[in-house]
Amino acid sequence: MELIDGKATAAKIKEEIRAEVDEIVAKGGKQPHLAAILVGHDGGSETYVRNKVVACGVCGFKSTLVRFEEDVTEEELLRKIGELNTDTDVDGFIVQLPLPRHISEQRVIEAIDYRKDVDGFHPVNVGRMAIGLPAFISATPLGILTLLRRYGVETKGKKCVILGRSNIVGKPMAQLMMQKQWGNSTVTVCHSQSPTLREECQRADIIIAAIGQPEFLRADMVKPGCVVIDVGTTRVPDPSRKTGYRLTGDVKFDEVAPLCSFITPVPGGVGPMTICMLMLNTLAAGKREYYK
Ligand code: GUN
Repeated sequence: MELIDGKATAAKIKEEIRAEVDEIVAKGGKQPHLAAILVGHDGGSETYVRNKVVACGVCGFKSTLVRFEEDVTEEELLRKIGELNTDTDVDGFIVQLPLPRHISEQRVIEAIDYRKDVDGFHPVNVGRMAIGLPAFISATPLGILTLLRRYGVETKGKKCVILGRSNIVGKPMAQLMMQKQWGNSTVTVCHSQSPTLREECQRADIIIAAIGQPEFLRADMVKPGCVVIDVGTTRVPDPSRKTGYRLTGDVKFDEVAPLCSFITPVPGGVGPMTICMLMLNTLAAGKREYYK
């Protein structure tokens, strides 16, 4: 069994990004600039956004954090998005999700100029990605594909089962794993209503677990030699920890790991790669790699 080290891989890629940014700036080019909008004070979102700002520093990017209180109106938020859309110094920006219930996430996502949508959530990017055109690709699936490539995991012709059908992970992951230029795998998507989920997993060469249920994938659901990617990040209460919780994946790691050829841990697997891919998308935005 080989452990896929997302933390080390992300650190290496951020160094590569930094080297490229230094070169761009040395040649008189523009420093990439990422802006993030954070609404309210959700603990998870605060942490993610803080980590994104720190990563910008590591990569040599400029970053701007825009904060709103929980009671911000949708109109105010959309106005700020309009400003960032036209701000020529900002190459890319994100609106951290989830948003308060009185704000439509879909309206917010669609208000972002797709050329600055480094999260890859805008329907233009989702659609272009789905038909194999250059586009910003959602960071978590892109991070998983990058890990598979960097660890030399063969995906071509393999049977890949994806657990979960979210817009952010499951759906784009399925699109990319099936595409010739990415996974080139045979893909099955299972979710909470799939009666044959267990049997599908037992036949899979690669399982990508993004179902959001701690320790959902057990040893008796996995074929020996399987590659297991754990996208779960549930905060499970743990009074023995200083934070009061521990991050728990969708895979019962101790049980499943001995069966695997490759597996990602939680934490330190997919998580660090997600922020790293946001940085890569921001670099691409700064270089106008996909859109003029
Ligand atoms: N919330 C959870 N994951 C993400 C992400 O990748 N981007 C944004 N904007 N919000 C998130």
